[in-house]
Parts: sequence; structure tokens; C-alpha cells
Amino acid sequence: MTTPILELRQATKLYGGVPAIEGVDFSLAEGEIHALVGENGAGKSTLTKVMAGVVSLSSGTMLIAGREIAPRTPLEARQLGVAMVFQENSLVPSMTVAQNLFLGQEKFYNRLRGIYIAAQQFLQSLNFDVTPTATVAQLGAAKKQMVEIARAVLHEAKVIIFDEPTASLTPEEKKYFFDLVRELKRRGVSVIFISHALEEALLISDRITVLRDGRHVVTDDTANFDRARVIQAMVGRDLSKTLYAERKAHVRPPGERVLTIENLRMAPMVKNNSLSVFAGQVTGVFGLVGSGRTETFKIAAGILKRDFFHGGEIVLRGRPIRYLTPAPAVRDGIAYVTEDRKVEGFFETMSIARTLSASIHFFPTASASRARTNGRPIYQAADPRAAAEAIAREAGVNDL
Ligand SMILES: Nc1ncnc2c1ncn2[C@@H]1O[C@H](COP(=O)(O)OP(=O)(O)O)[C@@H](O)[C@H]1O
Ligand SMILES: [Mg+2]
Repeated sequence: MTTPILELRQATKLYGGVPAIEGVDFSLAEGEIHALVGENGAGKSTLTKVMAGVVSLSSGTMLIAGREIAPRTPLEARQLGVAMVFQENSLVPSMTVAQNLFLGQEKFYNRLRGIYIAAQQFLQSLNFDVTPTATVAQLGAAKKQMVEIARAVLHEAKVIIFDEPTASLTPEEKKYFFDLVRELKRRGVSVIFISHALEEALLISDRITVLRDGRHVVTDDTANFDRARVIQAMVGRDLSKTLYAERKAHVRPPGERVLTIENLRMAPMVKNNSLSVFAGQVTGVFGLVGSGRTETFKIAAGILKRDFFHGGEIVLRGRPIRYLTPAPAVRDGIAYVTEDRKVEGFFETMSIARTLSASIHFFPTASASRARTNGRPIYQAADPRAAAEAIAREAGVNDL
């Protein structure tokens, strides 16, 4: 066998004496796509953070192309050819795509036109449909990811690590992402792909490594795996006794019927959706991506407007409701914790205090009704940043 491009031997990382990973052997072949799977807390992120220079090993060794190394910072790892595309993306939102690509080479910034042309050509060579002059904050999750990948390729990464890259992508964006990963492979880049979506791991990888409780369980060619074998390795128990199998439901005694959704329709997503939520109970809502779970509850919480509401009824404690904005829903005691918290859940550029008090500012205050009477909607849930800015302008606040 040829020397692996990257290898960990007996890798152990302790946090306060407790191992996050323990005695893990891992090897990445040149040009392979290697999926790393395991349950939450299995040690996947820790293992890859070691490779990317984000954390250092408590014991064990790391080798790149057979040479022992120990990167102490992400910069050192990048100089050794290992780049990590983070779950939390690491771009500068206020800068353009091109500026982000050439971050760290600011000497080019005094010839902005030059970097735009270079970025344009480079993005085109990767077949990435991203405008180099666009500000990163304006891009969706998939495009931001493209910029991060482009940056890694531009810096001639030999190994690119993706930690749960598909978590915030739509189904179409995922397809595109997989094409990208295959393109990286064609360019000779080796890829580590962390996912808890087994189908994805089985679909895209050449080999799979399974971790459990910080330990290495198995590494094998993907062709030798099926879903059942991966799950067996992940949970390490007989499947009939795990959370992946049927279990007896433990039903709490129902309290008051608090929220009822009846025959809710919202084309094209939601078709005749009905359910009830009882006081003191946890109601699980299950379905595939695109099946309308999020949309159903965004309507209930007033986040999607009535235009999306094509029929049916939502009843809260016996009273039919149809909120136009989230504010009255919040007043009635409905809180919605967003799916993509970084985009919809808080204001990245605001202090924690301001973010926390945002809901108070948004309350139906004089300024909201004044704006409505002016015929200008100032509350746009879909774009909280713009809403905050509009409200700040109304209130004469300059320092958001
Ligand atoms: N910075 C940290 N401090 C303390 N414990 C940590 C830290 N990072 C991870 N852990 C612990 O290490 C274990 C593995 O975590 P992680 O590598 O994030 O797993 P995974 O990515 O597979 O979900 C978990 O038990 C986690 O709580
Ligand atoms: Mg993780």
C-alpha cells in the first residue's frame, strides 16, 4: 500500500482527564473520500480538529505523507496542506467573495480590480457560480460553503475536512455539494467527510470509518457496508434494543389540548396536515426534508405570512389564530426556535444584550403600527437584520 497522505496513530485527546478520543488509528489515502460517522459525541469533530491544528493531541502521533508533524494552529495545518471547512463558517461576512479568497494576502488589496479578475477566473475554473464582488453576508449557506472550499483549493490544500457540511443545505444544494466533492477528488484532493446522515456517507465515500465513544470501531471500503452494518457499528448493540428500532412509546397523560392544527394546506408543501399539542407533552414531528415540517410551524408562529396559508385552521386554546407577524404569536405564548439559528435565530453583528432584547423592540409598539399606517412594512421576519436596521432607524439608534 502507498503511504497515506494523512495518518493518526493511537490518537488520544483528553479534556479534563476525560478522553474525547482514545487510541484512535486513522488513515487517509491520497485522493480518497473518507466518511467519518458516529453518534453525537463519538469524537468525530475532535479527531478532525486535531488534523486541522485546532486542538493538539494529548498522546499519539500524526503524520502527513509519512512525516511526523504536530500542527499547533489552523494556519500551521493549512501550510502543511490540511484545511477544514467549519460547521461554523469562518468567512468574514462584511467582505466580498474575492477579498475572502485572498484573505491573508492583503498586499493584493490595493489592486482590487486584479483580485476580482483573479477570483472570477479561479471560481470559473472550479465551475462555482459565485460572484466575486458579492458581499459574503448576502450569500446563502451553499454559496458560503463554495467560497470556503474555493479558498481551500486556492491555498492548495491536499486534504480538505468537512464537518457536517450538508446540515444547512437544501436537497438541491446537497446534490451540488456532492458534485463539488467529486470534483475535488478528481483534482487529487483527499476529503474527510463527517456526517450523521448515513445515506450520504454511503453515497459519496470510498471508505467509511466508524467511531463510538471516542474509540475506533471499524474502517472498511464503502462497498462492504450497508446501512444496517454502519448503524450496528455506530451503536454497538443489537439493533432491536436501540433507538433505531421500534420501542414502546412512553406516553405522558395528556393535559389540556393547547394547539390544534387542522387540515392545514400550504401549496406546494403542506397538504392537509392535522395534529394536536397537549399541555405538558412533547410532540415529535417527523418527516423527510421538504415534507413541510418547518413550514407548518412557521405558519403557527406567524413567521410565514398568510399568503402561504391556503386552507385549514389553527386553534390555540380554543381560539382560531392567523398571525401576520411573530409578535402576537410570542405574546400568546408561542416561541419558535429556528432551524438555522445562525441565519434566523440571532443577529451575529449585535451584542448579546441587544439580541436578547430584540423581541422587546419588535413588540407592537407605536413604531410598528406607525410604520404600518405609513404603508411600509418594517417587520420582515424573513430578514431580521433588515428589520433590526429599520427599527433602529425608526428609533434613531445608530449603534446596532
Ligand atoms: N472543548 C471540549 N471540552 C470538553 N469536552 C469536549 C470538548 N470538545 C468535545 N468534548 C467532548 O468530547 C466528546 C467527543 O465530542 P465531539 O468530538 O464533538 O464528538 P462528535 O463530533 O462525534 O459529535 C464528547 O463527549 C464531547 O462532550
Ligand atoms: Mg461534531
